Amino acid sequence: MRPAVVVAYLLVVFFFNQAHAQPSVFERCAACHSGTEATKDVAPNLAGVFGRKAGSREDFRYSRALSRSGITWDERSLDAFLKAPDQFIAGTRMPFEGLASEAERAAIIQYLKTLK
Ligand code: HEC
Repeated sequence: MRPAVVVAYLLVVFFFNQAHAQPSVFERCAACHSGTEATKDVAPNLAGVFGRKAGSREDFRYSRALSRSGITWDERSLDAFLKAPDQFIAGTRMPFEGLASEAERAAIIQYLKTLK
């Protein structure tokens, strides 16, 4: 292989891994949420959450507040929810104080998009 081809290949692999890398701040979510394995009992599985209607998994009993919110999870709604869950959806049962850092929220939303 020509060196340029090798370099191009390595760059593709590098950026692909970056895009799918779990940001360390997701560890705080992973205490309750799974994104890949079977659902944990305490919180809904986040696989495929981006683009999904809020509170729509069959295998989790959501609060009425969340399941009747009429929200679809996109960049804006996730950002608002993760910043201050119970301000965005009054009555949600997600016991999480929120992420003040915009950069951390953005990193998590990018990561959620990769969970299929
Ligand atoms: C202490 C446990 C806990 C932590 C920590 C937590 N969550 Fe949750 N999360 C929940 C519960 C419980 C619900 C369901 C809330 C409801 O029914 O009102 C939920 C709901 C959600 C939903 C809506 C899912 C759906 O199917 O509509 C998203 C998105 C979400 N959490 C993302 C996150 C992210 C991202 C983090 C980390 C920044 C996080 N959560 C941290 C417990 C937690």
